[in-house]
Amino acid sequence: MCGIIGIVGTKPVTERIVESLKRLEYRGYDSAGAAAITAPGKVERRRAKGKIRDLEAVLSAAPMTSTVGIGHTRWATHGKPNEANAHPHTAGRVTLVHNGIIENYAELKAELKAGGRVFESETDTEVIAQLIDFYLEAGQAPLKAFKSTLDRLTGAYALGVLIAGEDRLVMGARRGSPLVVGHGEGEMFIGSDALAVGPFTNKVTYLDEGDYVAIDHDRAEIFDASGTPVERPMRVVAASAALVEKGNHRHFMVKEIYEQPDACQHTLTAYVDPVTGHVSAPGGFDFASVTRLQIIACGTAFYAGLIARYLFERLAGLPCDVEIASEFRYREPAVTPGTLAIAVSQSGETADTLAALRWCQAKGLKTAAIVNAHESTMAREAGMLWPTHAGPEIGVASTKAFTSQVTALTALAVAAAAQRGRIDAEEEKRLVRVLLEAPRLVGESLGVEEMVQALSLEISKARDVLYLGRGAMSALAYEGALKLKEISYIHAEGYAAGELKHGPIALVDEATPIIVIAPTDELFEKTVSNMSEVLARGGRVILITDEAGAAHAPAGVSVIIAPTCDPLIAPLVFAAPIQLLAYHVAVQKGADVDQPRNLAKSVTVE
Ligand code: F6R
Repeated sequence: MCGIIGIVGTKPVTERIVESLKRLEYRGYDSAGAAAITAPGKVERRRAKGKIRDLEAVLSAAPMTSTVGIGHTRWATHGKPNEANAHPHTAGRVTLVHNGIIENYAELKAELKAGGRVFESETDTEVIAQLIDFYLEAGQAPLKAFKSTLDRLTGAYALGVLIAGEDRLVMGARRGSPLVVGHGEGEMFIGSDALAVGPFTNKVTYLDEGDYVAIDHDRAEIFDASGTPVERPMRVVAASAALVEKGNHRHFMVKEIYEQPDACQHTLTAYVDPVTGHVSAPGGFDFASVTRLQIIACGTAFYAGLIARYLFERLAGLPCDVEIASEFRYREPAVTPGTLAIAVSQSGETADTLAALRWCQAKGLKTAAIVNAHESTMAREAGMLWPTHAGPEIGVASTKAFTSQVTALTALAVAAAAQRGRIDAEEEKRLVRVLLEAPRLVGESLGVEEMVQALSLEISKARDVLYLGRGAMSALAYEGALKLKEISYIHAEGYAAGELKHGPIALVDEATPIIVIAPTDELFEKTVSNMSEVLARGGRVILITDEAGAAHAPAGVSVIIAPTCDPLIAPLVFAAPIQLLAYHVAVQKGADVDQPRNLAKSVTVE
């Protein structure tokens, strides 16, 4: 994880580094730092434990005057999140920032220490600075020393490097972690993504795996891993237009919850033709040509995949496996030819999902990526890009990206059902009408906020919370539990309701709220039985259901009423209530909703 920025510009650099780091803070916020060339041959740095605002305070107490610099926001891997371990790291003439993990750092460190080099941090990153400086001392020119170092590194990195004495040079490199070059007017940038350089330019070049680059104010020289100069295309992206602001909302998370009707609508537009009543994968794909689906994803995106399994198997009769990418990639799964692998990811950079996708490609499988960041590595590497259109998601807890993933997957399941002859044209048209109702109903489901807020105080006092659901709602139960634990730090578990009596019922007591997600469908009665089992044991039940379900709620149950909808889109319509519940509980607890402890938005390390 971590976010990096590098600037060879014409304007004061520290304000710009801070502005960029604020856009990158979603990648980690354990510490932050900046370094700048403040006089010929002189590099200064400022670092702070904590967030970008802590770095800002350090910079205003001890300003740096310069137009050339680098910056970093950190998600700690090796070494505690303190100032000494904050980037940039310096060794001799070299000062650098790093995103990734150097796997062979212990060997390299031992070798450099044996040669008399003294280390000042516990990080894997410092070995890179030490190694570049070692090669400089040995007489190599900056780019040569950089290449010699890159050749010795095992692991993942995106790097931004300053060298004292090279006053208009920033070097960058990528392997495993993303890096873009930004082209300004008489100035150049490197950054972790297009958002990072968005305030300065919308013209970017995505580096390929293994590339390294030297930027000056008017040019970028790019080399591939073998050291050969290469041209990479420049693209114009929309990132600079992306307003990363909270508007009237207190937190990004609640803003993004409220953006879900639009995100759902925009995503549907890529899949559904409302005029013909026809639904298809963007770019066209025939689901009759595959025999099995393999969905790979992490966290919330994995739960979107679990929801999709119900739809693909039930509607389209298409066998569908869903697996956590970090398990899949190392398990040597027995995939069969004719399988389509679908990676699901908001960021398109999650290391495990990307590795699983690459593994599938190496096995010769067809691949698609359902991705929100359309310029990301997965978006570029997958055989097919099936976009979600949630817009930038800043809150670390995923909300609108999740419902956009579910929207895309639901539309694809309908497409698969039609293409595989499981539904006729009339039924396809009906399901498309249902899909097109989703944005409105997701909007209506936000109307539960007051009911949810009223219950949030009680839940904020709980130590443990259970979430239950059946069918696709079991996946929403997992997602509800994840949302609650990640932002409010309350222990929560999601279960398929039928599993309750196989163990979790032992947890039931009056102090453990049980949140049951149950629209009225053919499984509703069974879920009511599970609720009764809980109530009989003195449990406290909160039921999220629709109008009809509320009428059948057993006495003593608190009810949150979501809009009535077709089962096809129930996971979308019932998502907002669980998200709002987690949000309000976290607010009650005074937690840092948008930047929960220990987490980062884009998990580019495994
Ligand atoms: C939870 C959350 C994470 C992500 C997971 C995958 O709210 O956001 O669980 O869903 O880290 O990230 P992406 O979708 O970027 O691959």
